[in-house]
Amino acid sequence: ATLQAKATLQADKPGPRINRNLYGQFSEHLGGGIYDGIWVGENSPIPNVRGIRTDVVEALKAIKTPMVRWPGGCFADEYLWRDGIGPRDQRPVRKNNWWGGAAETNAFGTHEFMDFVEQIGAEAYISINVGSSTPTYMREWIEYMTSPGQDTLARERRKNGRDKPWKVALWGIGNESWGCGGNMTPEYYANELRRFGSFFHQGEDNPGLRVATGPNSDETRWTEVLMKDASQAMDALSLHYYTLPTGDWKTKGAAIGFTQQEWVDTFAQTLKMDDFIKRHSAIMDTYDPKKRVGLYVDEWGTWYDVEKGTNPSYLYQQNTLRDAVLAAANFNIFHQHADRVRMTSVAQTINVLQAMILTDGGKMALTPTYHAFKMYVPFQDATSLPLELTTPNFSAGGKTIPAINASAARAKDGRIFIGIANMDPQDRVELDIDLGAVKAKAVSGEVLTADRTDAHNVPGQPATIAPMPYSGGRIGQGRLVLDIPAKSVVVVRLD
Ligand code: AHR
Repeated sequence: ATLQAKATLQADKPGPRINRNLYGQFSEHLGGGIYDGIWVGENSPIPNVRGIRTDVVEALKAIKTPMVRWPGGCFADEYLWRDGIGPRDQRPVRKNNWWGGAAETNAFGTHEFMDFVEQIGAEAYISINVGSSTPTYMREWIEYMTSPGQDTLARERRKNGRDKPWKVALWGIGNESWGCGGNMTPEYYANELRRFGSFFHQGEDNPGLRVATGPNSDETRWTEVLMKDASQAMDALSLHYYTLPTGDWKTKGAAIGFTQQEWVDTFAQTLKMDDFIKRHSAIMDTYDPKKRVGLYVDEWGTWYDVEKGTNPSYLYQQNTLRDAVLAAANFNIFHQHADRVRMTSVAQTINVLQAMILTDGGKMALTPTYHAFKMYVPFQDATSLPLELTTPNFSAGGKTIPAINASAARAKDGRIFIGIANMDPQDRVELDIDLGAVKAKAVSGEVLTADRTDAHNVPGQPATIAPMPYSGGRIGQGRLVLDIPAKSVVVVRLD
């Protein structure tokens, strides 16, 4: 069947800018996220530049990755940055206690990470060890990276091959301090944030913003206490929310071969993002009505049961059409909160959780999620436009989800873009948009869909799912009518 949806575009009432950092990435020392995924070493037969694989760099450049968060996650609160500098053959090997006890060679450290972000043209977001470290250790890392002077730390950086200081855009003051980052209460963490903040020395050499550990999903008390006790010590508060189809950490659900009910359950779960953002933003509004403090969703995405035969601690999962539609649905939500939500990073870039890229030795696959990121590139730094939407619903097993969600923006080149996620697994939707005063004559774009809900790509095999040119749009007399296939992502451009 074809369902009917309606929308009104208000191009004359532009909203906030959609910060390009909404399309950020998170790369942790976890499973194949860094080693194999990014770092192969200078002597690898896999093509690389200074040890960093070229295929991955090219792919991440193509989606205009604006920002990468590193080195964790839970790993960050045990990471000793001094282990990862100096001659590589002299770096200590540590046990990665969070992720399977893997041998952490420290071959990929500060210089390698900064080389990586420079190669892909992104900015750096560094997570500092608060849980098991000290303000001095943090301050020295910041000075090592950012000092332009002749002090010993700056000299040490130069000796290790980097003359100019780096600019680090964001610093995370801890990670999940309520959990793996130290099991703190919000009151305790608020004190720690103020204490670490005293030695952070934000200024000309270090203009980076301070990102405080924020709440997990709906933990509004954390937000309340942090905003009340320590809002002056932060420039942003993070929010973590993972989508588990079942909502149960013991049996999360499968990444492929899932049922239609699991599809619906997954979307019912992921759409809670909107409510979580609203609830945390409302608290932030009372303490920070001018919205100086950003809400950064710096861990989000799907978390399924690991692929059979893989190490359960490495969080390796396949990535399907469902993940792409879910990514687009989340982008549309983020755009609607662009005034407060000014950065997000998906977990995680390569080989871990909802990845953009899967690798297998020298082979690589671009996932459906990657393609969703690519289709939404025009939204980076665009101006959001209100799009009032009335959508039919899809129900199964007592769960109801909207068939579609959507967002619109005026891109930097002046063109209007509309992105739509059709979450309905079986019906097409005809979306009739009143364009108001917009005088566009042509509509074009791309669509990502497949016959199977779990269509996916495998490294070394021909791609089974990739975006196709979209020809389902008609425009005229102030109306745009889009024929949106079931289970799809569509992004159109008006000319
Ligand atoms: O992304 C995997 C883990 O999830 C991160 O290390 C941690 O911050 C979160 O619990």
